[in-house]
Amino acid sequence: MTDQANRLRELMSQHSANSAVSRVAASPLMPSHSEARVIVVTSGKGGVGKTNITVNLALALAKRGKKTILLDADLGMANVDVILGVSPKAHLADVIAGRKTLEEILLRVNDCLEIVPGGSGIHELADLDQPALEGLIRKLRELEHRAEYILVDTGAGISRGVLNFVLAANEVLVVTTPEPTAITDAYGLIKAIDQHNPLARVQLLINMVESEQEARAVAQKLIMIVDRFLDIDVRYLTYMEKDPNISRSVLQQQPFYQAFPYGPSTRRINMLASLVVEPEDGQEPLPSSTSFFTRLAKLFR
Ligand SMILES: Nc1ncnc2c1ncn2[C@@H]1O[C@H](COP(=O)(O)OP(=O)(O)OP(=O)(O)O)[C@@H](O)[C@H]1O
Ligand SMILES: [Mg+2]
Repeated sequence: MTDQANRLRELMSQHSANSAVSRVAASPLMPSHSEARVIVVTSGKGGVGKTNITVNLALALAKRGKKTILLDADLGMANVDVILGVSPKAHLADVIAGRKTLEEILLRVNDCLEIVPGGSGIHELADLDQPALEGLIRKLRELEHRAEYILVDTGAGISRGVLNFVLAANEVLVVTTPEPTAITDAYGLIKAIDQHNPLARVQLLINMVESEQEARAVAQKLIMIVDRFLDIDVRYLTYMEKDPNISRSVLQQQPFYQAFPYGPSTRRINMLASLVVEPEDGQEPLPSSTSFFTRLAKLFR
């Protein structure tokens, strides 16, 4: 505990120094936001609803006028672009190869929402040499001044690529369903976060439930095991009910937020956006010490 407190103080004192440096480094063309809150959405098991939740949460934040960037760091089947029904012509790999600038690959969804298509570039991060990695991270850091929220949609599991994004984050949203294997895998992921980044703020979203009671029971069970064996603080955030309109909207390649604007899932996503924007007492995110992308670069080194 003392170690954690010391580390926190150290991080806080680095915070003011670093934010001054990054303000100077920001392009003059960028809006002068302070650094974005970066929220990494992840899960132990695949197919639990991360991409749907991230895309629709991004739309809900944008609807409130919050400048949001969605970084698609998922190489799964139902990618951000598929769910949004857009086809990016270029990916992060094109930026890495020097064929495109970061500005050129950004997909503008509306006035407040832009997508960074990750594509295979996410895998390539691990193979970049030091100067190339640092060059790319410098560019990605500009995103932190371009938006208030950066949502990162990751793939599932604890492969190195995914884990690095999770471990670089101050805020992690862990998605699970009530399925026992999903809960077990969520625990495995939280254990990895506990080992490498115990100060992260980890919140649970229980997806595809029949009722709020079921969600609370699942969250309680998981938090009980976490409290028993790990040091990390994990909290229950909210839930999403099982909703056949979500699969329908995926088939239509339209986010449910747009396809079913008055449906129960849109209502829940709006509530999730409220919880993100106005955290309940005692759940404020830690001030970020260094840039998310700087921490990410260190992990890929
Ligand atoms: N609340 C829900 N109710 C019903 N179906 C849902 C719900 N959430 C997600 N789904 C369905 O589950 C499937 C997987 O969703 P999604 O692609 O968002 O998961 P994922 O966690 O991002 O998967 P991956 O690990 O492959 O990236 C989709 O077909 C989607 O329609
Ligand atoms: Mg996905």
